[in-house]
Amino acid sequence: MKYLSYVLAILAVTVLAAGTVWAFPTGSVENPKKGILVVAFGSSMSEGEASIEAVTDAVRKAYSDVEVRVAYTSRIIMRKIARENGKIVDEPAVALAKMAFEGFTDVAVLSTHIIPGEEYDDLKAVVDGFRTISSTAPKAGFRFIGLSSPLLSGAKDFERLASVLADSYSEQTKKGAVVLVGHGTHHFANAAYGSLQFALWGKSPNFYIGTIEGLPSYDDVASRLKASKVKNVWIAPAMLVAGDHAHNDIAGPESDSWKSLLEAQGYKVTPVLEGLGQNAAVRNLILDKLREAWDGFRP
Ligand code: CO
Repeated sequence: MKYLSYVLAILAVTVLAAGTVWAFPTGSVENPKKGILVVAFGSSMSEGEASIEAVTDAVRKAYSDVEVRVAYTSRIIMRKIARENGKIVDEPAVALAKMAFEGFTDVAVLSTHIIPGEEYDDLKAVVDGFRTISSTAPKAGFRFIGLSSPLLSGAKDFERLASVLADSYSEQTKKGAVVLVGHGTHHFANAAYGSLQFALWGKSPNFYIGTIEGLPSYDDVASRLKASKVKNVWIAPAMLVAGDHAHNDIAGPESDSWKSLLEAQGYKVTPVLEGLGQNAAVRNLILDKLREAWDGFRP
């Protein structure tokens, strides 16, 4: 329940601070006002933002009559881009409070998270807070609020993403190994990377999944690569964005980046600095998840 009091506090502050004239066309039963909130961890690099924008643009194209807004979950990133670029992005609780205040009746929250880990748990708690507001104080909330599930959260998701990745890297897997590096977490949802690995091996034995902060680790991937006897390695982030982790931990010039470590083992390494959000077929999978949010899916 800590999120409810938090959400209520934000709601109160937003309404007081807004001080705006009541200029918003408010939705009603006859004229619903629909909105979509795209939620991402965020990125402070323009290369990373490009991936979030690609997803947001795809959502805007698919729902041209619905207002689409963006929220980030990382306060560190929101503060950094506000300080350095003067760009203000709201976090989900604030964005939703503003949408409620502006009279949106139906809102779908699109999670762009890859696995249902800590970031997703927090987002779900905020959405649940707004569900409580909506049912106990309808005027302060929404008629409908839906939340999508992350890209890898159901049994069919692994096969779907593996198919897309197998198509995207069909040339590379013929010539060598493709190492996809996810974020990784201490959260149980880290198990999703193992499931994705098995789904990918169903497509090609030359796919390897690793993670920055969880399992499989760099060492796990390195020992399997050694056994495989490949010479060429393509390395790409299995994250929504190719941001800080991709440009530094995965493909950076430092001696401890995955690229440098693999080069030191004698492989010819080619980084693919593209986030999953920059892959049109992955964006379609994310759009399927958004449809599920509109259908009232309950995580
Ligand atoms: Co990180």
